[in-house]
Amino acid sequence: LLIDLIGAPTDVGAGSRGASMGPEALRVAGLREALQKRGLQVNDQGNLAGPTNPWLAAVNGYRHLAEVSAWNQSVHTAMHTSLSAGHLPILLGGDHCLGIGSVSAAARYCRENGKKLRVLWLDAHTDFNTNQLTPSGNLHGMPVAVLCGHGPTELTRIGGTTPAIAPDVMRLVGIRSVDEGEKLFVRQTALEVFDMRYIDEMGMQKTMVRALAGMDQDTHLHVSFDVDFLDAAIAPGVATAVRGGPTYREAQLCMEMIADTGCMRSLDIMELNPALDLRNGTAELAVDLVESLFGKSTLARS
Ligand code: ARG
Ligand code: MN
Ligand code: MN
Ligand code: MN
Repeated sequence: LLIDLIGAPTDVGAGSRGASMGPEALRVAGLREALQKRGLQVNDQGNLAGPTNPWLAAVNGYRHLAEVSAWNQSVHTAMHTSLSAGHLPILLGGDHCLGIGSVSAAARYCRENGKKLRVLWLDAHTDFNTNQLTPSGNLHGMPVAVLCGHGPTELTRIGGTTPAIAPDVMRLVGIRSVDEGEKLFVRQTALEVFDMRYIDEMGMQKTMVRALAGMDQDTHLHVSFDVDFLDAAIAPGVATAVRGGPTYREAQLCMEMIADTGCMRSLDIMELNPALDLRNGTAELAVDLVESLFGKSTLARS
């Protein structure tokens, strides 16, 4: 299995600057070396290019729509090209608006190759806003809605078919911050959300059994890991930190159970913001968790 690292150094979809430095921070934290130690072949493709952050106010409920569209087109093409070559792409974000390009590429690849798609959205937020519902205009709060067909055509048509995915391929885990209007829309859409209350009551083990249920060897699992999924106390290097998230142990178990399925074929590592981090500790934590995602375990596995 060949891993492609694809950097997307932008924060055009975020409300703070700094996620544009995420790809390099993950490299400095040793992402490639950690994967190589797992016996994987890694090809670091370097970074995609795109427009700079103009830092303007929202227009019609969207900040930087043209720039977000340009970045997502590039991400879509790069991810789809990697998948079509039979590789496993890892998108190094970059803010989470880029999940539009990434997940739409996985969805297109699955359509073209007769595979079933499952998307695990690991996040403190549901990212299910629209321009009518958003309190911020920031497009990193909207990618799940866009993927389900709700959003501007510049974004919903990325990947060819609209909607890119049916809502029932999504499983959102770790959720603890949903805006007021967004809540109603999440419920109307019947999105499958495993929020922190669910994890508190059921435990991470049962949560992941349910989130991963129904997959088989024809299932392509895409994991979109927003680093703010993690509890704010252990992952300060994100712009929209929320307390009360998964602990280090819970996050490890989550990643290990994903690895056990053997189905993960694409991954996003998003929202890492080195400008807010402490000595690159959040990047190092993300790399540690990615090792588990690729099968690192304490004891030898039979
Ligand atoms: N719900 C808030 C908003 O729409 C925050 C979204 C945060 N999203 C993220 N990918 N970090 O502005
Ligand atoms: Mn090849
Ligand atoms: Mn997110
Ligand atoms: Mn988030």
